[in-house]
Amino acid sequence: MRGSAKIQQGRRLKTWSAAQLIPQHPTLSKLREAARHCRACPLWKRGIQTVFGAGAASAKVVFVGEQPGFDEDVAGKPFVGPAGKLLDKALVQAGIAREEVYVTNVVKHFKWESKGQQHIHKKPNAKEIDACLPWLEAELQVLQPEVLVCLGATAAQALLGKDFRVSRQRGEWVPLPLAPHVTATVHPSSILRAPDDETRHAEMARFVADLRRIAEVIHHMEDRQNH
Ligand code: URA
Ligand code: SF4
Repeated sequence: MRGSAKIQQGRRLKTWSAAQLIPQHPTLSKLREAARHCRACPLWKRGIQTVFGAGAASAKVVFVGEQPGFDEDVAGKPFVGPAGKLLDKALVQAGIAREEVYVTNVVKHFKWESKGQQHIHKKPNAKEIDACLPWLEAELQVLQPEVLVCLGATAAQALLGKDFRVSRQRGEWVPLPLAPHVTATVHPSSILRAPDDETRHAEMARFVADLRRIAEVIHHMEDRQNH
């Protein structure tokens, strides 16, 4: 008995979590400030800075990506690099205004490995994701968005369950208490990686179509509020 209690305690000590850092009565600015000093998992050592979510507190839609990339690490803001530019373009095509949107990530530090002179993006592991999730949970609690959109498998599996398959289930509405409308689509960087122009255009059109369904939900809700 004593032995196993000790092992369990040892395990608990090794669990990384940002939970203790969440301020009481959080606001976005309180959260952002607290997250600047987060050292809940080892990724803080690798990135330049914490890249917290960005957007208006009144945003109707929250998009959740995987983790900041190199450009985001430098800028301190999510989705400012090539994937972010593609997302912006798709939002315009879908008729979703930037002010309606808050963008963030499952993991708030850039994870990379050096390969020669380059910084190669590495996927966060389960321990890092678990450690960082309290920040996202707190963001959602403050924002109370109408629609939550996971971009890509990392976000979808962290929030919707590990069996979720974006390839098969993109665009489905998932009944979860995270928000009144919860869904997932591909990560914009997967469109950038398309092997040729034709595939890229087709993938972009599908992505915009997914975003249009999201636009319908938020604009329908606004119509209801205005009447
Ligand atoms: N990819 C992401 O998942 N998030 C970012 O912020 C940028 C690129
Ligand atoms: Fe904290 Fe998340 Fe950065 Fe890890 S990745 S140090 S949990 S903010």
